[in-house]
Amino acid sequence: MSVLVTGGAGYIGSHTAVELLNAGKDIVIIDDFSNSKPEVLENIKKITGKDFKFYEMDYADREKLEKVFEENNIDSVMNFAGFKAVGESTKKPIEYYINNVSGALVLFDTMRKYNVKKFVFSSSATVYGPENPIPYKEDMPVGTASSPYGSTKIFIEQILKDIYKADNEWSVALLRYFNPIGSHESGLLGEEPQGIPNNLMPYIVRVACGQLKELSVFGGDYDTPDGTCIRDYLHVVDLAKGHIKALDKLNEGNGVYIYNLGTGVGYSVLDVVNTFMKATGKDVPYRITERRAGDLPAFYADATKAEKELGWKAEKSLEDMCRDSWHYIEVSRKNG
Ligand code: WQD
Repeated sequence: MSVLVTGGAGYIGSHTAVELLNAGKDIVIIDDFSNSKPEVLENIKKITGKDFKFYEMDYADREKLEKVFEENNIDSVMNFAGFKAVGESTKKPIEYYINNVSGALVLFDTMRKYNVKKFVFSSSATVYGPENPIPYKEDMPVGTASSPYGSTKIFIEQILKDIYKADNEWSVALLRYFNPIGSHESGLLGEEPQGIPNNLMPYIVRVACGQLKELSVFGGDYDTPDGTCIRDYLHVVDLAKGHIKALDKLNEGNGVYIYNLGTGVGYSVLDVVNTFMKATGKDVPYRITERRAGDLPAFYADATKAEKELGWKAEKSLEDMCRDSWHYIEVSRKNG
């Protein structure tokens, strides 16, 4: 029996592939390298000492996807092939809906055809929208999405709930990620956004290595202790481990399970910058600038449900996240 990992060469997919292999699972990876590199697959093998089958393809290519299900004994699926850049999604809504929503439907339809009904979905804290109070809890109503990217998460959550309603043999986990940062401690896997990064940690790292001059801290006048926005940053390896626990849960019984994957602790932008400088000894020049449109002042998870029901708790500190994010850059540079 194998777990199909779509987008398994990407940032979160690759870290999860490592944890699946470490947990003794067989996996099959699909990736089209649209936002990842083939070397990642070698690095997954290097870290785990294990091999897996790989298909270079778009996960929404129905014909090829059917072949994957025919050639392998797949019993569950994790999908990391969604597009994830919030800003880009506002400029390319059609591409986002086609890849994230239509692609997911092709995947679900194919799963149904091959009687595979266990699915772990990479959802996002963004589904809580601006309406809900913090900390966010899983039983709060879904809010309003602030971008097409966010809408795709809300739509797919609803689609999966409807699929389960129609067929109780499905077992689905909706994992609402908060802000994943950090990299595998080996320095062999990490996040490599193309162009100028939009997210905080990739930007900090580029400033620290001198590729970018300074960090713009978006807004210093929020109603938070230091005036900068607060988020729930979690280490990507902790996040990856949450997927293994969720998969175990799906194997216990059918249903739709919703979990926040966060630490439950909020840190400000300046907390992250200062912890990064302390953890790495690198300087990160910054300047407080205008607020970024669409940013919420503060959100973080109530992470108690995942702990109670999955036995999952984020273990790594903000310092670990900063150190590992930087280590990845150092190792990548050394390896050219
Ligand atoms: C974090 C904080 C910025 C860059 C988004 C998505 C979410 C998830 C993760 C994933 C904010 C501030 C940032 C910079 C800054 N999606 N910042 N200067 O916006 O919380 O969440 O990414 O796939 O769904 O919405 O993350 O890392 O962009 O920002 O001051 O150059 O850092 O204002 O307060 P965000 P982020």
